[in-house]
Amino acid sequence: MSRNTEPCIGQAPIVHQLSLQPGAQSIDAPSDRSVLASAQAAGLELHASCRNGTCRACLRRLESGQVYYRIEWPGLSAEEKAEGCILPCVAYPASDLVLAAQG
Ligand code: FES
Repeated sequence: MSRNTEPCIGQAPIVHQLSLQPGAQSIDAPSDRSVLASAQAAGLELHASCRNGTCRACLRRLESGQVYYRIEWPGLSAEEKAEGCILPCVAYPASDLVLAAQG
C-alpha cells in the first residue's frame, strides 16, 4: 500500500482527505504534511512519540489509499508494508486515506 509517489518538488500541495475507521469524519490532509501532523492539527488522537519513524509508537494499518515517505527506510518490515502498515509521523498522503482507528 505504501509506495514512493512523492509529488514533484515545487508543485503546490494537493489536499487529500483523511479519515479514521470506524466512524470518524474526514479531514484535510495536504500532501506536504505528515499524516500525523494533519490528524493532530484536526484534533484527532493518534499516539506518537519520536516523530521520526524509529519508535513505531504511531504504527497504523492503512485501510485504503497510498502514502509516500521522505526518509529512506521508515521503521517498517517488508511484511508490515505489504500488510498495509504505515508510520503516520513520517508518511505523507499521496491519495485520500482511510486509517484504522487502532493499530
Ligand atoms: S512516532 Fe515514532 S515512529 Fe512514529
